Amino acid sequence: MANKDSITNTVKIAFLVCLACSIVVSVSAVSLRPLQKQNEVVEVKKNILAAAGLLESGDTSAKAIVEQFQQIDTMLVNLNTGKFSNEIEDLELYDQFKAAKDPSQSVALTKDQDIASIGRMENLSKVYAVMDGDDIKTLILPVRGYALWSTLYGFIALESDLNTVVGLGFYAHAETPGLGGEIDNPKWKAQWIGKKVFDDAGEIQAGVKKGTVNPAIAYEVDHLVDGLAGATLTSNGVTNLVNYWLGDLAFGPFLKNLKAGEA
Ligand SMILES: Cc1cc2nc3c(=O)[nH]c(=O)nc-3n(C[C@H](O)[C@H](O)[C@H](O)COP(=O)(O)O)c2cc1C
Repeated sequence: MANKDSITNTVKIAFLVCLACSIVVSVSAVSLRPLQKQNEVVEVKKNILAAAGLLESGDTSAKAIVEQFQQIDTMLVNLNTGKFSNEIEDLELYDQFKAAKDPSQSVALTKDQDIASIGRMENLSKVYAVMDGDDIKTLILPVRGYALWSTLYGFIALESDLNTVVGLGFYAHAETPGLGGEIDNPKWKAQWIGKKVFDDAGEIQAGVKKGTVNPAIAYEVDHLVDGLAGATLTSNGVTNLVNYWLGDLAFGPFLKNLKAGEA
């Protein structure tokens, strides 16, 4: 009778166990991928609702988020012309981050232009709105930019004046918890509400101060939020991305066109 404990048998069994485990892991990874993708989509929707101040506390199931999201219209903007675009039919299928990597769908930014350190900007961006009849009540714009360790992905929502901030939030980043990760702190995020992005001359002034906002200085009260303690680099990343995305290279022309009723 063959020795059950022979080296050949041991290697054979070890190999079969490894094979069985790797099949289980691969099948789980592949079969869970659609669910993961769906969760990511829901997470983005949740963040859009939160930026617009519309996220209801309580039921945060995927179904509830999808239902709440029905009050949001999704539209497409050509960032080169600053006008609405109908170049893409099914916006659910359009991934602007993928487009930003494709030279035929994006532009490379020069070092001077690229204050948010994103490398390339897509030609077409989704924007989101809460409508009041034909008028925009809240406009929600996707923003992103590199901070200290990672690209911050989020949204900034503006009131119908296209200047007053309704909310700012990030749904993906890898900054350090307790330091740069404090961009997720509800108390810090709440400071953004009511800030004016632009001054009377139309220049972008919104940003994160190093230190705390001085209540006696109107400019700071109007435009700035407190810096994150010990996380100036992440704070600067936020200032940079707000300045980039609301500026002339990104949504600036679209905002001007919207104000003039020419988008
Ligand atoms: C392990 C480690 C993680 C850090 N994470 C962050 C971070 O996420 N964001 C950030 O701005 N600074 C982070 N810092 C600190 C920066 O290196 C830098 O000192 C800081 O941004 C300067 O800000 P301050 O002038 O407010 O102290 C980290 C430092 C260490 C050692």
